[in-house]
Amino acid sequence: MEATKPPVRIGLIGFGCVGQGFYDIVQRQPGLGLAVTRIAVKNADKPRILPSERFSFRADELLDDPELDLLVEVIDDPIEAFRLVSTALRLGRRVVTANKAMVARHLPELVQLQQHFGGALLYEAAVCGSIPIIRTLDSYFGHEPLQAVSGIFNGSSNYVLTRMSEEGSDYNEALAEAQARGFAETDPSLDMGAFDARSKAVILAAHAFGVFLNPDEVLNLGIEGIGAADVAYAARLGQKIKLVAGLYQLPSGRLTVLVTPQLVGSASPLFEVGHEFNGVLIDAAFAGPQFLRGRGAGGHPTGSAVLADVLALQRGFRYGYAKRQPGTELQLTKGLEGDFYLRHADEAVLRTTLQQLEIPVKALRSDEHSLYATGAVQLELLHQLRDWLRTTGVFVARVGEVSATQPARETAAVRAQE
Ligand SMILES: NC(=O)c1ccc[n+]([C@@H]2O[C@H](COP(=O)([O-])OP(=O)(O)OC[C@H]3O[C@@H](n4cnc5c(N)ncnc54)[C@H](OP(=O)(O)O)[C@@H]3O)[C@@H](O)[C@H]2O)c1
Repeated sequence: MEATKPPVRIGLIGFGCVGQGFYDIVQRQPGLGLAVTRIAVKNADKPRILPSERFSFRADELLDDPELDLLVEVIDDPIEAFRLVSTALRLGRRVVTANKAMVARHLPELVQLQQHFGGALLYEAAVCGSIPIIRTLDSYFGHEPLQAVSGIFNGSSNYVLTRMSEEGSDYNEALAEAQARGFAETDPSLDMGAFDARSKAVILAAHAFGVFLNPDEVLNLGIEGIGAADVAYAARLGQKIKLVAGLYQLPSGRLTVLVTPQLVGSASPLFEVGHEFNGVLIDAAFAGPQFLRGRGAGGHPTGSAVLADVLALQRGFRYGYAKRQPGTELQLTKGLEGDFYLRHADEAVLRTTLQQLEIPVKALRSDEHSLYATGAVQLELLHQLRDWLRTTGVFVARVGEVSATQPARETAAVRAQE
């Protein structure tokens, strides 16, 4: 009789929303041959759903435990996550992580550690929860040029926007609900300020375009300043406000990456992506347009992506980073402009903002609902003024359809440099 194969032994670091989701999926599918044999958490006093003897409070003990076949890191602290994951990779270990902030900030080093020490790191759960976007870009489209990858990459801000537009919820009330449902990061400003979506855009840039970006190079504008007036403005145009991340290869061959609120019309597949769902549009040179939609947050959807990575690691899968060809790297450009909508209840604040962004004051409009303006803005200027803009509370959104071919007009200055 054939001997039963021993289970693959997993060390799980973090037992919060994602850790418990993953654990539950493994428990429900004994036929997979996986066993979570050690679990590390931080807080010794927290009530747990499992007996206390199942937990360790020193994650470091798991890193070099020879009884573990692979590690899953799903903690909420990116600095500590990098320390743990990089130490594990130095030991040549196989690791799965969901921590987008950590991966986006340290990707070049994480790739180098794998090459040097022979370990492996997969992070599908870090981008768009349950949507298999990284593997799709890395493996399936690894050798096909892409014109654009864009979409809704953050579940909790999309949940807030959906509640505001469909049920007239107040921003703070909708945010509290997103947090209660486990969609939001521990620090909600990461979601609402578009920092989380920016991390995901940076990770996708490596797989879709072969470019390792520093997150600080990417413009991100959030939805913290949004109000009912903005939702109503979009609705009057038959559109919705979505937090859209876009990576576009421009006609000049350069790349632009930005994350901003955007008015989206019903012709875009993103129009119907509601609540905690995410959606990704891929515009491939030969395959043409593709659209993937799925749950972008939550224990089970994210745990499902972790499971897929665990099983892929067991089969020996690693990311190929096929688009990354030394010497032919795409250059990131911000020398572009786009059309934006700006609103603030205080006219003086709005006027100052227009002045700073070099929009003529005659662009100012008022109707019975609000005071707002629309005009062309240099992306570079928006990037420089991003932190100041956040302090003003002015809500800023890109206007116009999501378009792969003309995300923003390349300015004469950029063309002149070619
Ligand atoms: N939630 C989602 O929908 C989602 C989606 C995609 C990706 N992610 C990512 O997945 C990761 C986990 O998110 P989450 O929502 O599951 O967070 P969470 O619910 O806040 O849980 C975090 C877990 O990490 C543990 N932890 C924190 N620091 C630790 C340390 N130094 N050593 C050991 N354990 C430590 C915590 O321990 P205690 O239990 O003792 O507090 C807790 O169990 C984050 O990187 C997040 O960005 C989350």
